[in-house]
Amino acid sequence: MGIAADIAGDWEAALAALSWQVDAGVDEVIGDAPVNRYELAAEVRKPASSPAPLVPVQAADPVAEARAMAAAAPSLDALREAMASYDHCELKRGARNLVFADGNPAARVLVLGEAPGAEEDREGRPFVGRAGQLLDKMFAAIGLGRTAPDPAQALYITNVLPWRPPGNRDPEPGEIAMLLPFVERHIALVNPEVIVVMGNTPLYALTGGKGILRARGTWTTALGKPVLPMTHPAYLLRNPAAKREAWADLLSLQARLRG
Ligand code: URA
Repeated sequence: MGIAADIAGDWEAALAALSWQVDAGVDEVIGDAPVNRYELAAEVRKPASSPAPLVPVQAADPVAEARAMAAAAPSLDALREAMASYDHCELKRGARNLVFADGNPAARVLVLGEAPGAEEDREGRPFVGRAGQLLDKMFAAIGLGRTAPDPAQALYITNVLPWRPPGNRDPEPGEIAMLLPFVERHIALVNPEVIVVMGNTPLYALTGGKGILRARGTWTTALGKPVLPMTHPAYLLRNPAAKREAWADLLSLQARLRG
C-alpha cells in the first residue's frame, strides 16, 4: 500500500497519519511516481569529471568487514552493537529494528530462523508473530521454552538476517554471505550444545545444503556442532499435515538432549 499524504510541518498530524497507516497495514513506503533505480545506479557509476585520485581507493569488502567486526566482538552485547553499526546491508535502511535474539544465552539449544517478519521488525524480537507462537508451542511440547531460566529447559532464538527483507521476500545470497560472519560469531559466543535450523535459509547458511523437505530430521554438523534441520513453522501453518514429521523431529531432539 502506498503513502500519498502531504503533511507540512504539523508533527502531531504527521504522527496520527502514520499510526493510521500502520493500523491500515501499510508496510512499504513508495512515492507517487515510479523511480527507475537502474538509471540512478548508472548515474552513480558515471566517471567523475574531476581527475582520478593519485592513491587508488580501496573498495570496501562487506564480507571481510563483517568478519573483522564480528571477530572483534567479545560478548553478545558487543556483537549486537557491531551489527547495529554495520552499514553494508541495504535491509538495515528499510527496517525499524535490528532483531538480535531472544531467550536464554545459556540454553543448550539454539534455534536459527530466517529473518524477521513485520511483527518481529516492529517489536525487535525474533519469532513473535503467528509462526513464532507455533514455534513456542512446538518446543513447549518437549519441555523447552525461551523464558526458561534453567539452561536444560531453555531456548535461545536468533535469525540469519537481523533486518526484515521488504515484503518478506527471500533473503538474497549476497545478504546471507555478508551477515554470516555475525551469525557464526553469535553461535560461537552462545556456544550451544545443539543447533536447530528452521527452514531453507538457515540450512543453506550453516551447511550449504538446499531442500529442507529432504534434509529435515537428519542430523548433520556445522561449526563443530550437531545440527537438526526442521521445517519452518510458517511452512507448518500452511501445511498442517507436515506437523507429524515436525513432531518426529522434536522427539529426535529430545532424545539427543537426554542421551
Ligand atoms: N520467521 C523467521 O524465520 N524468523 C522470525 O523471527 C520470524 C519469522
